[in-house]
Amino acid sequence: MKRILVTGGAGFIGSAFVRNTLRNYPETHVVVYDKLTYAGNLNNLRDADPARHSFVQGDIADGETLAAAMAACDAVVNFAAESHVDRSIMGASDFIRTNVEGVNTLLAQALKLKVGRVLLVSTDEVYGSTEEGSFKESDPLHPRNPYSASKAGSELFGTAYFETYGLPVVITRGSNTYGPYQYPEKVLPLFVTNAIDNEGLPLYGDGRNVRDWLYVDDHCAGIDCVLRHGTPGEAYNVPGGSERQNIELTRRILELTGRDETLIRPVADRVGHDRRYSIDGAKLRALGWAPNTPWDDGVSSTVRWYQENEWWWRPIKSGEFREYYQRQYGSKT
Ligand code: NAD
Ligand code: TYD
Repeated sequence: MKRILVTGGAGFIGSAFVRNTLRNYPETHVVVYDKLTYAGNLNNLRDADPARHSFVQGDIADGETLAAAMAACDAVVNFAAESHVDRSIMGASDFIRTNVEGVNTLLAQALKLKVGRVLLVSTDEVYGSTEEGSFKESDPLHPRNPYSASKAGSELFGTAYFETYGLPVVITRGSNTYGPYQYPEKVLPLFVTNAIDNEGLPLYGDGRNVRDWLYVDDHCAGIDCVLRHGTPGEAYNVPGGSERQNIELTRRILELTGRDETLIRPVADRVGHDRRYSIDGAKLRALGWAPNTPWDDGVSSTVRWYQENEWWWRPIKSGEFREYYQRQYGSKT
């Protein structure tokens, strides 16, 4: 693959994918296409070789601009999305516009330009919640919040383009991802940066909801593996293999930042809060992928990164974020 279009490449996972692709494939040029919403940030691409990537600001729902960026690309990898569950609960229109309409536009342009492969980055949340066992790719989708419903929508359009027009679409369903450059609305960077500032950590409900933590570089390696070796029309789970209750995650963050449990603020539960996500990774392991960052190493190096890179998150937390934080948490913390 000589030229890859990475949509949403200025976000958290997309920017890691760009960095890793440039490092692992010296012959590849990457075109990053990103609308730069509140979550997009060109600082995330500061370590990506400027000679080997180009940037186009644009919306995936804008077919004309997107087609110009897609021209001559061998593959498209879509990370562009509205990605935060709590924001989707406040209002779903942006989620439908980008995650469903935007993805439909992207698929239509890829079909017109006969792109050789399209990968849609999706999420384990499309299966919904389960108290026991782990979802396999053949299990039915049962999204339970507006974010996961919109991601399931984008997947269904991907599969429809494969079935109807033969567009070679592959899908990945990754679990909760963590690492450097994650927008501090998500639980891990929110709690780490609040702890650094000695501010409360708003823990939802009883704190016993379970998430399966996946280090960002392992997630990107899984996406790369599916991009190159996945079967068109198929979806692949990308699990972290590190299921933790939120309270365990919270305690670990407090330990690593040298704070005590008096910072924990139990707050009202998220409405419709999915209890546990869990996915089976056998299908992707059969293609040769496995996560290789143990939870303890990943979480400690990630916390250290936020401690050492205040220049990155302080401006974010003082901008649009303040207003969002107030709306979401009020004076609870
Ligand atoms: P993010 O919110 O950090 O980044 C999203 C990026 O998409 C931003 O750069 C934003 O500017 C861009 N974008 C948004 N709307 C756009 C539009 N209409 N056109 C072009 N660009 C647009 O998200 P993330 O955490 O990096 O997630 C990336 C992808 O991975 C998403 O599709 C998400 O659903 C999926 N995912 C995330 C996780 C996770 O834990 N973060 C887990 C599994 C899957
Ligand atoms: P989040 O990072 O929003 O990811 P997702 O909802 O996509 O899994 O939340 C991870 C878990 O942390 C989830 O169970 C909700 C919980 N959580 C809190 O307890 N407090 C918070 O302030 C946030 C943002 C999340």
